[in-house]
Amino acid sequence: MSRKDSENQRRSMSRIYRGKEIFKPLNTGRIDEHVACVREWVANIFFYSKNGVTIMIDAGYNYRRLKEKMDWLNIDPAAIKHILITHQDTDHVGALEQDSDLLFKEATIYLSEIENRYLTGEVRRKVIHGLYKLPLVKTDNRRELLKDGQILEIEGIKIECLLVPGHTWGHMVYLIDDTYLFTGDTIWFGADGGYSFISTLAEDNRLAIRSLEKLEANLLARKKRIVVITGHTGWSDDLTMVFAHRDKLCSPLMKRVPDPSAPYDGYDESDDTKEKAQMLLLPAKKMLPSPGAGGLTKTTLKISGMMCSMCEAHINDHVRAAFKVKKVTSSHSKGETVILSETPLDKEKLKSVVGDTGYSVTEIKEEPYEKKGFLARLFG
Ligand SMILES: [Fe+2]
Repeated sequence: MSRKDSENQRRSMSRIYRGKEIFKPLNTGRIDEHVACVREWVANIFFYSKNGVTIMIDAGYNYRRLKEKMDWLNIDPAAIKHILITHQDTDHVGALEQDSDLLFKEATIYLSEIENRYLTGEVRRKVIHGLYKLPLVKTDNRRELLKDGQILEIEGIKIECLLVPGHTWGHMVYLIDDTYLFTGDTIWFGADGGYSFISTLAEDNRLAIRSLEKLEANLLARKKRIVVITGHTGWSDDLTMVFAHRDKLCSPLMKRVPDPSAPYDGYDESDDTKEKAQMLLLPAKKMLPSPGAGGLTKTTLKISGMMCSMCEAHINDHVRAAFKVKKVTSSHSKGETVILSETPLDKEKLKSVVGDTGYSVTEIKEEPYEKKGFLARLFG
């Protein structure tokens, strides 16, 4: 997609998806010593480094600030010689397009031979149940075409290439050094675990679900820790969470478990800063209980300033007025308020509601809550 189209897409998608909790990109930063990440609006580009070699996974939008954000991570675009492409959508190959800054013009790109048929124009990329055609992507980079199951060795880095069709016909995921799986747009993380990626953007949703089933079996058989890193919704090393709803689709219209970690507008990058990118590690996505599964969320607030039972009642009343809760209890002697709710609560809003009463929240802890029966309370 041209730079101009990318800008237009940013503006329209920001309006459409605001408050919907569909896109939950990681900010720019590091997951651990091997994996770094740049945020481009709602999309993430990843960098895997080992022994002084860095390979890139996907190439994001046709986006002006990529070099600047790579600088935050001390990654030199000219040092990138290999780029693995999960699929050719415009938010995954933008930095390779002919009218981009061409930061990586010397790099070889790797993609599946099936996916390459979009680039040659043999197949057109369609979304919204085949109703809408996306523009042809044009790139001059040298290409290496991959087959399902192929194993590459690039400067001491092992890359296993697994075909996962559905979102696009030739979508590939890459397992690097037997540990890091880059999944592009195959898995979408909800607050209650992973789903097949956004239904309206798939070529074939049933095929996508079959691909996920196969992928789960493949990974479980390895019996080792695998870090699963998605293109738009963060990462997790908990395979139960990753595949929790792999037979279901993320539908923009479906009712979802509220996700307190989702940004209101994924296109608003004001919290993606150099300081944070260099100081903090990017946390894993945590699974919250599904509503209706009997699970409640227990939120414990540490609060300073409560002196007596009047203070407790004051805080309880304010919390009840601002949130839908099952139960709220406060203790001035413990300096805490415990809230049970069917869905997780917005932490920023909690802080401001309590702040408005004249007390301040110093800590918030959130955990699943299972109601215990009489025997369990006695013995467990
Ligand atoms: Fe994408």
